[in-house]
Amino acid sequence: MRLLLFLLPALPILAQDGGQLYTQYCSACHAVDGKGATGGQFPPLAGSEWPLGNPDRSIKIVLMGFNGPVEVNGKTYNLEMPPQGAALKDDQIAAILTHVRSSWGNKASAVSADQVKKVRAELGDRNQPWKAEELLKLHPLENVKVPIEKLISHFYKASFSALPDFSQLKPNAVEEEPSGLIDYSAYANTDGFAMMWEGEITTSEGSHEFSLDSDDCSRLIIDGKKVCEITTTGPAGRTVKKSETLSAGVHKIRVEYVENVGQEALKVGIKSKGDKKIKWLSKETGSGRGKPWPEMMLTPTADRTAIYRNFIEGTTPRGIGFGFPGGVNIAYSGDNLTAELLWTGEFIDAGHHWTDRGTGNEPPAGEDVVRLSKQMSYAFTADCASAWTVSKDAPPRFRGYQLDAKGNPTFAVEISGGRILDSYTAATSPGLSLVRKIKTAGKLTRPVSLLIQSEAEAKLQTPAGFESGPLKVAVEGATFRYAGNAVILDLKDKEVLIRYTWN
Ligand code: HEC
Repeated sequence: MRLLLFLLPALPILAQDGGQLYTQYCSACHAVDGKGATGGQFPPLAGSEWPLGNPDRSIKIVLMGFNGPVEVNGKTYNLEMPPQGAALKDDQIAAILTHVRSSWGNKASAVSADQVKKVRAELGDRNQPWKAEELLKLHPLENVKVPIEKLISHFYKASFSALPDFSQLKPNAVEEEPSGLIDYSAYANTDGFAMMWEGEITTSEGSHEFSLDSDDCSRLIIDGKKVCEITTTGPAGRTVKKSETLSAGVHKIRVEYVENVGQEALKVGIKSKGDKKIKWLSKETGSGRGKPWPEMMLTPTADRTAIYRNFIEGTTPRGIGFGFPGGVNIAYSGDNLTAELLWTGEFIDAGHHWTDRGTGNEPPAGEDVVRLSKQMSYAFTADCASAWTVSKDAPPRFRGYQLDAKGNPTFAVEISGGRILDSYTAATSPGLSLVRKIKTAGKLTRPVSLLIQSEAEAKLQTPAGFESGPLKVAVEGATFRYAGNAVILDLKDKEVLIRYTWN
């Protein structure tokens, strides 16, 4: 092995070009693409944890050399790397390591000549090469695991307008992706291609929310099961979210993608129970390319509800979002006159509409999104005796909303000569819940009913309440009536309280 050292040319180098120096001093053994020379007989630097994290570890390796058994990317080597401290100046080593730490999907900070100088001084007249054991005691690996392990990408050049059957296609290129990130950027300027990635993710036990967004089509498959899918062509901003319960350990992940024409975008994320933020499995992230706005999470304060008046995914254009203290959120539809979406956790990321006003809908940022309904929620009681039916005459009117001192909304709806006041607040004791109060003001000329839920299947229906997905819904001061798929509240001249609680 030592012989190779003498093959390295000793040219004078003026400006320190890390890439060029790397080619001269390292690539004979580690290969230009960082994957290890002679088909991987030498250890890789791409995807290796050794050169990442604390730079002192690799500075020491380059200065003094390295030998004995060492495990890199799950494979054991027992070779010899010659010292290069005498041949390379501090700024050259800094430039080389900066290159190594930021190439081939490696992502770590730059290394300065001063850092190299400091380590060189510390080592004094030591001239022994390092052994893995010794070095790991001084600088343990930081375990900077890549998001997707053993990731392989497949590229297909052809025109697609829908997701193809990949098993019938021959890839034009198959690549290992040591960065562990779903990344199509190598083909970003090409129209008409498809890609497919396969790899492994390691998860904890429990529920994990996957999210997928793309321009154009995409599909996310976990352990052979389809989790999220976008089947039509079109711009990004169509995020699909789905929760999956997984066992602790390694799971197979597969992502399929079609770029038809125009712009590209592909975002894949996972948010595990207890995580505050999405962990991105793609190079493109919430604030990445394709969504060129910064994240601006709107959050209520401990005693004031946050409000979001903009386009929210899953409700009508006149949707208004409220994020209550404690982590309950609603989207009220000014068209259908009810809270149509309920969710927990984070409220909404305002970065999109702040930066890029008016285009696209922003999805709820939290979890357990329940859709209560998506149709007009007021009807005359006589018309909806057996099923939810809204009469065309005398339609209800939205009369706006008022906020109390803590920012909690009361919506006003005019119907049948009177007003219905529909107010929402959050309670955190005994558990997290949303409390809705419904009150009539003035005399109604015809009895009015309110649609409480239509979309999801309501279960365990009793006059006092029902369950819907993760939600328990209980009523006080009145009873629910069930007609077909609809849960109906017939309004009387009396205040009614509805409590939404999460299991
Ligand atoms: C003559 C071949 C050779 C050259 C040139 C060489 N290395 Fe190495 N390198 C090795 C070998 C062999 C090992 C593993 C030693 C062992 O088995 O203990 C290694 C290990 C490493 C490691 C730790 C293990 C890993 O793969 O992450 C780093 C970091 C490293 N080299 C960086 C460099 C850098 C930077 C350069 C250029 C300045 C360089 N090497 C030049 C052969 C070489």
